Amino acid sequence: MIAHLADIESMEKSFRTNLINHLTGGKAVHLIGTYNEHHQSNLAIFSNVIHIGAYPAMIGVLFRPIGENSHTYKNIQANKQFTLNQIPLSMVQQAHQTSARYPFGTSEFEACEIEEETIPEFDGPFVKHSLIKMGLIWEEEHLIKSNQTVLLVGKIQYISIEDSILLPDGHIDLGLAQSLSAGGLDTYYQLNQLTQFPYAKVLADASHEPRRNS
Ligand SMILES: Cc1cc2nc3c(=O)[nH]c(=O)nc-3n(C[C@H](O)[C@H](O)[C@H](O)COP(=O)(O)O)c2cc1C
Repeated sequence: MIAHLADIESMEKSFRTNLINHLTGGKAVHLIGTYNEHHQSNLAIFSNVIHIGAYPAMIGVLFRPIGENSHTYKNIQANKQFTLNQIPLSMVQQAHQTSARYPFGTSEFEACEIEEETIPEFDGPFVKHSLIKMGLIWEEEHLIKSNQTVLLVGKIQYISIEDSILLPDGHIDLGLAQSLSAGGLDTYYQLNQLTQFPYAKVLADASHEPRRNS
């Protein structure tokens, strides 16, 4: 298929949404845990979670245009704290269910039967059985003017990783962790490690001559 701007604009809406959502490939999915101002917990699945920087350790989350619901975003505004939790393979269906529009004050931990965990070191609800958990504090946010989405950046305050998936050099074995990725908003994939290379350097014998087409 070849599509130009005019073709994209005239596509049937759900086809276009699925297509554009899949174009960037598999995106790691996370469950974001928050408290509202009454300290009631909330949990929702997010795939637009990106690495912003390693030091200071920061992660970004892209939110849909903020609306009447947007509980996760509003809770972060209220408390400035949130948790990011890896989704274990066995919990994929419950994790997907957290995307339903539960009313304000309904905890998806209870509604979707996901066990909640609290710890003294960080005031945020965690997913007990996640192998990778993080506690973050709101750092800054940016409105994407052209479509009203919001890129919210959090600074990592706390990390909990299952020892069996953490390698001595700081890598995490995402295959062993059975981490999941999503294509669009309804299809889930499992990761398998293919290979590992050293940091790429320009090779000594590399030719810088532009290639000629014969
Ligand atoms: C696989 C998947 C990925 C999602 N990723 C995002 C995302 O990155 N950003 C977003 O705003 N919503 C995303 N959603 C939608 C939210 O999960 C959904 O709007 C949810 O109701 C938000 O809950 P809340 O109102 O408690 O914050 C995703 C949904 C699914 C199923």
